[in-house]
Amino acid sequence: MTIVHKLDLVLSAGLLLALAQGIHGHNDGSPRGGGNSTESSSSSSAAAAPVQTSGPSLTQQLIWAHGLMMGIAFTILFPFGATIMKIFRFRGVVWFHAGWQVLSYVVALAAFGIAFYVVGTFGSLVTSNGHPIIGIIVIGALFLQPLVGFTHHLIWTKRQQPTPFGIGHRWWGRTFIILGVINGGLGLQLAGSDKTWVIVYSVVAGCFYLFWFAAIALSIFRGRKTQQVEQSEGAQPEEGKGAHENISARELPNRYG
Ligand code: HEM
Ligand code: HEM
Repeated sequence: MTIVHKLDLVLSAGLLLALAQGIHGHNDGSPRGGGNSTESSSSSSAAAAPVQTSGPSLTQQLIWAHGLMMGIAFTILFPFGATIMKIFRFRGVVWFHAGWQVLSYVVALAAFGIAFYVVGTFGSLVTSNGHPIIGIIVIGALFLQPLVGFTHHLIWTKRQQPTPFGIGHRWWGRTFIILGVINGGLGLQLAGSDKTWVIVYSVVAGCFYLFWFAAIALSIFRGRKTQQVEQSEGAQPEEGKGAHENISARELPNRYG
């Protein structure tokens, strides 16, 4: 096993642990609930507007929209978009990944805008658990991902070699997508969400992230196998190699089989 493989395994395990802890450690069970609340969130200074007794206020509805869109982006869209690079092998898969991730980012950005509207109108960014600040860091950190991924792709199409841009894009993306899903847990805590929503969030996230990590592990395993078979040709293992977008269908059985 090469250093790159070992590093990938250790970092993947570390991220998995962080994810598990993040999801399970953040519900304080506060009783606001997800339905027609009759009081404003006591745990947050951000959404301090009074909530009508007859139904959810506009603030409440906007927070739900924010939570739902961010939840979908970070539990399903981003991890699946990353998994695309690991499970599909067709030519041009990178454009499927690129389009998917950019759309996911647009969803997250819209939810970000909603949060700012709510916070700007009714409260402050400083909360008990740092949810808005971590959210700003995550969304900011992912801003340059498309550019870095594209730069790697351009160099890779010419040289067919791993690049610092590719490795950076991969690990920066993995880190901040996982920080984002953990931050969703903090958002649920801040909103004092019903336990049911915490469970739904954890189960959906658990499924998509396990699928993603399993795909990474499989890719490392396949890379090892490929390396053993193709050592004489100086081939790179899949995980170390980076994108496999330019490999023709004819080559696939050899490289990945
Ligand atoms: C990675 C980015 C983020 C994710 C995944 C995320 C996710 C969530 C989730 C799931 C909720 C719970 C919604 C509910 O149960 O009703 C929530 C609430 C909230 N979020 Fe975010 N969020 C993110 C970023 C942000 C940012 C950047 C801000 C501020 C600018 C923000 C402000 C809020 C506020 C104010 C609440 C409501 C808290 C309350 O009801 O007291 N979030 N967020
Ligand atoms: C916000 C947008 C994006 C995010 C969050 C993102 C995230 C990621 C992540 C997490 C990986 C690693 C997958 C894994 O092995 O676990 C990855 C790989 C990759 N992405 Fe993106 N991506 C984005 C946009 C793009 C764009 C626009 C391109 C442009 C062509 C691109 C090209 C690639 C390539 C070539 C790889 C393989 C890199 C390697 O493993 O060395 N990505 N991306």
